[in-house]
Amino acid sequence: MTRHLRVDGPNHDDRLDHMAQGVIGQPLNRLEGPLKVSGRATYAAEARPGNLAYGVLVQASVPAGKVLDIGDAPGALAVIQDKRMIRHAAQGLDEKGPAAGPARVEYMGQSIALVVAETFEAARHAAQNIAVRYKPETVPVDPESVTPELPPKKQSAAGDLDKAMREATFALDRVWRTPSQTAAAMEPHAAIAEWDGDGVTIRAALQMLSSNRKQMADALGICESKLRLLSPYVGGGFGSKLGINAEAVAAAIAAKQLGRPVMVAMTRQQVFDLAHRRSETRQRIRLACDAEGRLTGIGHDVLVSNLPGSEFTEPVAQATPFTYQAAHRQIVHAVARIHRNCAGSVRAPGEAVGVTAFECAMDELADMAGIDPVELRLKNIPDVEPTTERPFSSHKLAEALREGARRFGWSDRGMPRQRLEGEWFIGMGMAAAVRVNMLMESRAKVTLVQDGHAIVETDMTDIGTGTYTILGQLAAEMLGLPPDRVEVRLGDTRFPPASGSGGSFGAASSGNAVFLACEEIRQRIAKAMGCDERDLTLQDGMARAGNVARSLSELVDGMITGEGHLEPGKTEKSHRQATWGSHWAEVAVNRWTGEVRVRRMMGVFACGRVLNEKTARSQCLGGMSFGIGIALTEAMEHDPRDGHAVSRDLAEYHIPCHADVPPLEVHFLPERDPYVGPLQAKGLGELGICGAGAAVLNAIHNACGVRVRDLPATPDKII
Ligand code: MOS
Repeated sequence: MTRHLRVDGPNHDDRLDHMAQGVIGQPLNRLEGPLKVSGRATYAAEARPGNLAYGVLVQASVPAGKVLDIGDAPGALAVIQDKRMIRHAAQGLDEKGPAAGPARVEYMGQSIALVVAETFEAARHAAQNIAVRYKPETVPVDPESVTPELPPKKQSAAGDLDKAMREATFALDRVWRTPSQTAAAMEPHAAIAEWDGDGVTIRAALQMLSSNRKQMADALGICESKLRLLSPYVGGGFGSKLGINAEAVAAAIAAKQLGRPVMVAMTRQQVFDLAHRRSETRQRIRLACDAEGRLTGIGHDVLVSNLPGSEFTEPVAQATPFTYQAAHRQIVHAVARIHRNCAGSVRAPGEAVGVTAFECAMDELADMAGIDPVELRLKNIPDVEPTTERPFSSHKLAEALREGARRFGWSDRGMPRQRLEGEWFIGMGMAAAVRVNMLMESRAKVTLVQDGHAIVETDMTDIGTGTYTILGQLAAEMLGLPPDRVEVRLGDTRFPPASGSGGSFGAASSGNAVFLACEEIRQRIAKAMGCDERDLTLQDGMARAGNVARSLSELVDGMITGEGHLEPGKTEKSHRQATWGSHWAEVAVNRWTGEVRVRRMMGVFACGRVLNEKTARSQCLGGMSFGIGIALTEAMEHDPRDGHAVSRDLAEYHIPCHADVPPLEVHFLPERDPYVGPLQAKGLGELGICGAGAAVLNAIHNACGVRVRDLPATPDKII
């Protein structure tokens, strides 16, 4: 039986706070951790079916044009040209894949063919030496060289911002720039496809299996029921595996043609070209306020880029309309159609770079108005969403700011260039954190077996975030079992379709589905006990209600199965849902070299119920580290002649490493959000990155008096 729930109203039930075992929220270690660190968790490229052939993608060496012909590849089994395998990762579900045929090149580095050989080395050799003739075209590759498009749904305005700027006591008008960024998942994209008659099984590195199956079925021109996707372990996604990508489609096409299993694994360099990037941004931010620091005008004009016809637009200013209150407002999202590699969702699309620039602007305004930066923010927090007057589902920005200031010792902050230790200027900075919250339709199946163990099945993925663990914890709590008596099976499209991992929605969405499935099982047990499900306590293999206690093995005949189905409903529209927090950083800036060392960093976050304190904290540690990357190190540089990504490995593209990241402190504010389903949990995955870089940049200014608006803040821009 399936228990459905559409989230149409509030849920104030606090039963999860009073469960018998108290497992939910506990900082349990990741269940699959030992498998991963001992090499027993098999990632996409690690299966070895018999008779496996190896494919290597051939990449375009011109920025645009037609492929006229592709030469022979001596020693290869096949050279496959098929434009279906171009399919960009960022391509939406509604965009139909192209039909078969020779490829058109839209950016330098795009996949145009697949060479298959008996070994990876032979395939790579042939792919690198193959002769390709093009009819090249000259195309724009610089976002500021073209007239941008203005997608109508991405704009918003109220009042008269120009007038507000003219009449303001303090007015700030500045431009920030952030470079293209890459997702930089540890596991490069890979797939192994194997056909059995007209059905195909593809092991791949993917974040969202049920939508990936639709995309893949469309790309291959087969029925979804003929396609099984397996993604039990994924070595990070960060957005780059949200959609299907060239390697998986190519593997399936080649495996069909050759009648044997084919693996296509990208090299690290190929990932930089073929997985989408985060668009570079140009952000003009205008702020107007009165003498007391009350905002009267907010402007956020954004320019991003993508390929012609690509659906995705980095929603840079998506949190701007509801973070602070101002009567006059203008939000513009413009898209330059250029021929750099495809742009798509990467690590908190929108807020990661948008909140970063905006929170730097708030710091500059505070400076200008002579108001403490924390105070300026506190003065401008709205009671309801300013644009729609909808209430917030839960809103702890003010608490996060106050709690952070207290814990970090904000009152010790001095003036720029005031604190010098040896040759290092020391400074403190802060920023608000905000990220939109989403809930996605999700299903799960839970089976309680007579011998006192349970199995959770859903096509949900665990991309390193802790999904196995939190879903196991939830089922253990609801069914009164020790967590090690719950087996969690994920990453297989044969299981009920879940939200997948993305947009910070994975844990809450799939968790609610597991909760509902367990409620269904509890209902059945309650019926056998002759009590109400609410009065049922399950613990240590026993069912108790009032004075009655019976063992589960007696109540469960063989096994009980329950299915849960969660759908977002009216609360999506009735309430503005977001997660909130604050970031704090202390940096040292070398007065002679401009080198920045982050000395300590802290985040205070509110995300509704925390499902596992340890995995939640780890998400925030990762986000904050990436915030250091946005502020100081990360940049995908494009060749100005052809748009090609020239920083294309992890030596050239600097993700902060351990030496760059100081001890990070994370604090969660207790919160239950009634409008986001029975778990009362919002998404947390991406909150830690949103605004983190601004705390670092603002600390740089407080240390040495320099504002860097062209990110990243490398020493040459500070000295
Ligand atoms: Mo995320 S960038 O939606 O994986």
